Amino acid sequence: MSSVTLEHITKRFGEVTAVNDITIEVKDKEFLVLVGPSGCGKTTCLRLIAGLEEVTAGNIYIGDRLVNDVAPKDRDIAMVFQSYALYPHMSVYDNLAFGLRLRHTPKKEIDRRVHEAAEILGIAALLNRKPKQLSGGQRQRVALGRAIVREPKVFLMDEPLSNLDAKLRVATRAELIKLHQRLQTTVIYVTHDQVEAMTMGSRIAVLRDGILQQLDTPQTLYDRPANMFVAGFIGSPAMNFFDAKLVGTPDAMYVDGNTFKVRVPADKAEKLVPHLGKEIVFGIRPEDIVDRATVANVPADSTMKVQVNVVEPLGSEQFVYLLSGDTEFVAKMDARTPIRAGQQMEVALDLAHMHAFDRATQVALT
Ligand SMILES: Nc1ncnc2c1ncn2[C@@H]1O[C@H](COP(=O)(O)OP(=O)(O)OP(=O)(O)O)[C@@H](O)[C@H]1O
Ligand SMILES: [Mg+2]
Repeated sequence: MSSVTLEHITKRFGEVTAVNDITIEVKDKEFLVLVGPSGCGKTTCLRLIAGLEEVTAGNIYIGDRLVNDVAPKDRDIAMVFQSYALYPHMSVYDNLAFGLRLRHTPKKEIDRRVHEAAEILGIAALLNRKPKQLSGGQRQRVALGRAIVREPKVFLMDEPLSNLDAKLRVATRAELIKLHQRLQTTVIYVTHDQVEAMTMGSRIAVLRDGILQQLDTPQTLYDRPANMFVAGFIGSPAMNFFDAKLVGTPDAMYVDGNTFKVRVPADKAEKLVPHLGKEIVFGIRPEDIVDRATVANVPADSTMKVQVNVVEPLGSEQFVYLLSGDTEFVAKMDARTPIRAGQQMEVALDLAHMHAFDRATQVALT
């Protein structure tokens, strides 16, 4: 158990700045997720914390201890990699025990830790098998077990579920959350999958091009994204964006998108007063767009006339791709609403959940 602090960390590989001035405080026992697209610096962050790479600038603390110059093996950290090569000729037991033997852990202690980890992971019955006699999910658990037996202060996990099929991923995701609750250990978990990030993280750090975009709870990232990148990255389908202009007066402010004009609610308008008259990007999530006909008391100036382009039924809901002028956007609607491609319809926007971004800087204005 330990906190991990990254203080203005930068890592350059020649010309490439993989990690750019990142500051993150991971709390003791926290499950922190690092998320972002391929190449944004996630793995590099983990390797810096593990000591497998040296920082170009900045400080890394594990607990109160500055570890910049501490060797990986003395950092009390265990890392689970994406490609978790198990030793194929060794039994599960020996795979789990291997690292401890290297460290000259007493035999009795090894035996205790292996059985405890196997118990936690539900693989106690598999200890005599070889890796090739295991399913993908079981192999994944052995890989986790190798980290658990070390009883580290901090777990670093780099896309540990990416080799599993979709169904097993979801199941293992839930197991990992339970595992974290049981072990009460700090976990820093890397993924490029925003659903994984949202479901697992107590807090999420969103990275782009080596730069930290926002660090907060899943709900805050969703409700109040700091910029268009986070707004578009968190949530599925992604938030819809429209080029628009803020018009009207402070007391009657509108988003004018050319083909639609909607009223800005008072609390949002208050914050947007300095931007009145400016070009902005208007954002609305697919779930905040409904069929006008299905809701009572739709406020004035919250609707759009649209054409239905494509309908994707998903059973529980449907993704409806709509056209307003030339702009395509998507709504997540009740599957029971009868909607056909090609038809005209009127949709109502839940403007209490609207977003507005600066056109140039892409920073959130509300
Ligand atoms: N040893 C290295 N030498 C040179 N460049 C590197 C090295 N390791 C990483 N990079 C570069 O640093 C950037 C960040 O890489 P990193 O592996 O941290 O990304 P990532 O977020 O883990 O991506 P992915 O989701 O694809 O695993 C990339 O542009 C990558 O090409
Ligand atoms: Mg990576």
